[in-house]
Amino acid sequence: MDQEQLIAALPATIAERVKSARMVGARAVVVLEASGLTAKQREDIEAAIGDILGAQDGVEDVRVAMMADKIQRRIIAVGSGKGGVGKSTLTVNLAIALQRLGHKVGIVDADVYGPSQPKMLGLEGKKPEASGEKMIPVPSAFGVPVLSMGFLVKPAQALAWRGPMAGNAMLQLVDAEWGNVELLLIDLPPGTGDVQISMLSKHKPDGAVLVSTPQDLALIDAARAGQMFEQGDVPIIGLVENMAGYACPHCGEVSDPFGKGGFEKLAETIELPFLGRIPLSLSVREAGDAGKPPAAGDDEAAAPFAAVAQKVSTWLEKLNNGNAG
Ligand SMILES: Nc1ncnc2c1ncn2[C@@H]1O[C@H](COP(=O)(O)OP(=O)(O)O)[C@@H](O)[C@H]1O
Ligand SMILES: [Mg+2]
Repeated sequence: MDQEQLIAALPATIAERVKSARMVGARAVVVLEASGLTAKQREDIEAAIGDILGAQDGVEDVRVAMMADKIQRRIIAVGSGKGGVGKSTLTVNLAIALQRLGHKVGIVDADVYGPSQPKMLGLEGKKPEASGEKMIPVPSAFGVPVLSMGFLVKPAQALAWRGPMAGNAMLQLVDAEWGNVELLLIDLPPGTGDVQISMLSKHKPDGAVLVSTPQDLALIDAARAGQMFEQGDVPIIGLVENMAGYACPHCGEVSDPFGKGGFEKLAETIELPFLGRIPLSLSVREAGDAGKPPAAGDDEAAAPFAAVAQKVSTWLEKLNNGNAG
């Protein structure tokens, strides 16, 4: 078979990406333009080419080479109006849950005033290595690499940083050697400060997830953080209610001492999509302190994070297909 025949055997959506196709003995060798494709799309296309060309007369083996200028890397910011609402807890567990859904995820801990990802991932005291001018993210035991402000400065130092320094440090974390990571989750400092501003000007996220507790005040603050993203033209993926209800440490049943559903209604009033609720649970707290995020496990503590991850994954899929809202 010659190039024309090989290409003709492929569906149009794949054929238009073929840079060259030829037979080397009984092996078909196809070179594809893969810019803009996600890892999952590349895998699917490679499998399809293998199936289709492998079934042609005279083809015993198929090799596919993908060429891409650059991996299409998405950025999702995790923000909150105030500290202590569970932004870091959500970031690390959402990252792991998304990873379990097949995404290649990395975490940027940009909370210069309270970096907590090294502890949550059991990486305290680790330091990133460098490749030339760039940092190499630190691998974690959960398949999700991380770079944190906490690797760069001591807490006492960070408090003395002026805004531009924090902003620059944040850019270094994003402009690192992320390799095949196709989705960065950014654990932002609370509120709307310098780190947010430098992020919006240099690495505008593709979307933002807002975290809040059910208290009215926290929710009002979250709405304010939401406005900052909207003004910066960053779509809000939705709002997560954390520490919602109470999960019994003995039986896992979630009770709602302060009533239920009010948060969802409020989210509706301020016109933010609702992504799910994470119950207040002793195991979430202990897992955070122990460097073992519950999303990595298989018990009921992992389920709420998996549910939020599913919604975010659907949002990403729409974005990659060019019609995110
Ligand atoms: N759903 C939850 N159940 C129990 N404890 C939680 C939950 N979410 C967060 N925490 C705990 O609350 C504290 C603050 O959470 P953290 O994620 O560090 O908040 P933030 O990053 O917004 O400051 C941590 O000690 C964390 O373990
Ligand atoms: Mg935090």
